[in-house]
Amino acid sequence: SVRCWMPHQYPTLSAEQKKELQDIARRIVAPGKGILAADESVGSMAKRLNHIGVENTEENRRLYRQILFSADERIDGCIGGVIFFHETLYQNADDGTPFVKMIKDRGITVGIKVDKGVVPLAGTNAETTTQGLDGLSERCAQYKKDGADFAKWRCVLKISTTTPSQLSMTENANVLARYASICQQNGIVPIIEPEILPDGDHDLKRCQYVTEKVLAAVYKALSDHHVYLEGTLLKPNMVTPGHSCPIKYSPEEIAMATVTALRRTVPPAIAGVTFLSGGQSEEEASVNLNAINNCPLVKPWPLTFSYGRALQASALNAWRGQKENASAATEEFIKRAEINGLAAQGKYTGGSESSGAAGKSLYVANHAY
Ligand code: 13P
Repeated sequence: SVRCWMPHQYPTLSAEQKKELQDIARRIVAPGKGILAADESVGSMAKRLNHIGVENTEENRRLYRQILFSADERIDGCIGGVIFFHETLYQNADDGTPFVKMIKDRGITVGIKVDKGVVPLAGTNAETTTQGLDGLSERCAQYKKDGADFAKWRCVLKISTTTPSQLSMTENANVLARYASICQQNGIVPIIEPEILPDGDHDLKRCQYVTEKVLAAVYKALSDHHVYLEGTLLKPNMVTPGHSCPIKYSPEEIAMATVTALRRTVPPAIAGVTFLSGGQSEEEASVNLNAINNCPLVKPWPLTFSYGRALQASALNAWRGQKENASAATEEFIKRAEINGLAAQGKYTGGSESSGAAGKSLYVANHAY
């Protein structure tokens, strides 16, 4: 019958638009490269800065981002993209150079956080969806003009005996797909982030099960919304035991659970997987990423990092708001970037850092950006 369920897909993106999206996505996750997530909202920066005794002012946020963005050419081989927060996209270095120009001149791709944070899903056990679709197309068009080529949108899911509910999985998958579709229409590569929080005492198997269900729902929604997968990146949690799970697992077990979950649910067509660090210590996040890349299963996508806390904790600690510490802080960031660049290729042989700041857990209960 002519009224078949899906006669064809109406035209969405031209061949040129698709090529541009795929080229951007591939550049970000070129071998040995990952993403610096420096897109903490003003509220998240308050937590980071208060922790080191620094007041959360616009100028202090600018000074801190300058520490990260002034890293030298050593990061060119290991950082493919930097995610900005709106405020940072329009800030300049001390010498007046726009941060966006500093990053782009290095051949690093600029990204922008475009979601507007989580809101409660009424009638659920404290589950959430993420808002920010209104006006998103116009914002994406402006950000593209202002130098951004990719975006991030974070959804949050929780593991407990009653969650994630079917509602939260369906709703968050759909809102991620709407966001992705809008980004692609504006030449922006969407990073799809369905973060499953590490809170809870569940074991590795339960996290793997939930991750598979969440990712399956996400890719069904992306298909329904005609999203061009080659022009997307996935930013998932690693499959780990809950933070208060009494059982300890090796990096190899975490890697096997993670790659198994991804292989079961994530199409080979996507450009890459860029894990969030989710409160793991800097060293844990590097060792686990390395193990993931050495996991003895076929892995059809680049598997790399898009770390916030696990690229910045030592740098923040070294800085403490003191001008004379700025270059030492930059060195700490470069060190983590280089280590993660190795881990993204399965070539990190370290693991000796567990005693210092790098080994400190960065876990925060019910973490919000
Ligand atoms: P973490 O690596 O600190 O989890 O943050 C990454 C991120 O951008 C979450 O949205």
